[in-house]
Amino acid sequence: MLTVSGLSASYGAIRAVEDVSLEVPVGGFAALLGANGAGKSTTLRSIMGLHRPIKGSVKLRDVELSRLSLHRVVRLGMAFVPEGRMVAAPLTVEENLRLSVYAGRHHIAKHLDRVYQLFPRLKERRTQTAGLMSGGEQQMLAIGRAMMSGPDVLVLDEPSMGLAPAIVDLVFEAIVALHAQGQTVLLVEQNAAVAMSVVQYAYFLKRGRIVLQGKPSELRNSPEVMEAYLG
Ligand SMILES: Nc1ncnc2c1ncn2[C@@H]1O[C@H](COP(=O)(O)OP(=O)(O)O)[C@@H](O)[C@H]1O
Ligand SMILES: [Mg+2]
Repeated sequence: MLTVSGLSASYGAIRAVEDVSLEVPVGGFAALLGANGAGKSTTLRSIMGLHRPIKGSVKLRDVELSRLSLHRVVRLGMAFVPEGRMVAAPLTVEENLRLSVYAGRHHIAKHLDRVYQLFPRLKERRTQTAGLMSGGEQQMLAIGRAMMSGPDVLVLDEPSMGLAPAIVDLVFEAIVALHAQGQTVLLVEQNAAVAMSVVQYAYFLKRGRIVLQGKPSELRNSPEVMEAYLG
């Protein structure tokens, strides 16, 4: 179980995240949704130890993560797919996977096998230079790289960003497959319609605050939600 409670984070004088609380149960699949600038990435970066929150708590199995470094947070079971993918462009696919900060010293071959099973495309292209691949392939690589630690919780920041709809479907199919295998997932998306079609629970962030939350089936029945967030 990942539990975020009362999280607040600032950039100088700007309060980017204000009193955010959310929960992802073991094996759960939750989304944090909201427009550009709502504070989604800041929330994830605070969870992962990449941004220091000014208030609040982030707990994984009752272990306090906030104020630990990324390195420790990863050791404790979290993995992160950052916005914009951030693969190492000059390295090959397999080098990206093997050199991942998420790849520990143990079980590399096992994790590599699992990533290649999930994304046969990456296996085919394992000697390809990452920077020369398509956006969809780079997204698959970014997800694969995160999976190299066998994480308890996989955290993804806008995996659909900049991808054609058909490629978004492929990437989401892979995330859904991971969840079906028992992976706990926290997904951030601007594309609420796509995210709501796959997750079990959704939180809506607006100007740094959670303004709405619920199961997609409940949220979809609310005309107010449909109008404000799903167009
Ligand atoms: N690098 C930054 N420098 C200054 N302000 C920032 C920076 N990143 C984010 N912010 C502030 O935090 C707010 C939330 O940003 P962010 O978390 O990136 O939103 P989202 O991921 O939902 O698009 C922004 O509107 C901005 O005010
Ligand atoms: Mg963002």
